[in-house]
Amino acid sequence: MANLWLDSFCLLVYAARLYVTGTVGLQCQEGGQIDAIEQPESSVANGCNLNNRIQEPPPSSFISALGTKAVKPPQLQKMADKNAKINAKMARVCPELASEYARYPLQMKSWVSPDAMGPNKNPCWISAPRGTTERKDDYAFGAGKKGWGYYHLLTRDSYTILYARLTNEMPGCCCAFSAEARRQMSDWDDVKTIVYNRSVATIPDDAQAKKDAIRLAQGVAQAHYHEGQNFQLAVGVATTAATGF
Ligand SMILES: *[C@@H]1O[C@H](CO)[C@@H](O)[C@H](O)[C@H]1NC(C)=O
Repeated sequence: MANLWLDSFCLLVYAARLYVTGTVGLQCQEGGQIDAIEQPESSVANGCNLNNRIQEPPPSSFISALGTKAVKPPQLQKMADKNAKINAKMARVCPELASEYARYPLQMKSWVSPDAMGPNKNPCWISAPRGTTERKDDYAFGAGKKGWGYYHLLTRDSYTILYARLTNEMPGCCCAFSAEARRQMSDWDDVKTIVYNRSVATIPDDAQAKKDAIRLAQGVAQAHYHEGQNFQLAVGVATTAATGF
């Protein structure tokens, strides 16, 4: 699980770097090294070569073809597949987690307050009475700090709610020795861990969530969590975190 997580994190940081700076050759410490990928030669694009002959710059379709190839080495594909499996598992165990706002690995800078407006001008908390059974996409229903209602998956409350539910909802154990029952049990356990880690995370970032969960287990006082009125991808945070990892 730790390796899987690390791989996914490396992939994300790597993809973000490639996207932001075009640089390559990122290393992740615990065996997560990714081979450097050659970039298209810029000297060719300058129209020069060693013989000083004027050369046509390569057509842009050629460059974009190289670019496409560069971001899909087999390692990246493998990590993307692993993440897709985790996301499928999450959706199976907990339908709310099929939301794009819950997609693993989470990499955002700050939880959004239930008082704030979420995406598409939808409130992050919608009041609803206890006992409501209707599901709402991108929200979890339950009791959070504003009382009963729908909490957007951008709020930390949504994970507290989902964790409480998962804890009470162990998969049925009618045929506990079948392979299928074991699979369900192990899926449930994996998803419960992800949800728990998010519920104690200072920011909505699975890398940070894991650190926060460990700190909490060790009895180290938890840092205050960050809650904002907005949400944002944590590309900068991820890049910085990779070096101190
Ligand atoms: C959740 O945190 C625990 C530490 O308490 C860690 O061992 C585990 O790998 C984390 N899980 C995920 C999915 O990050």
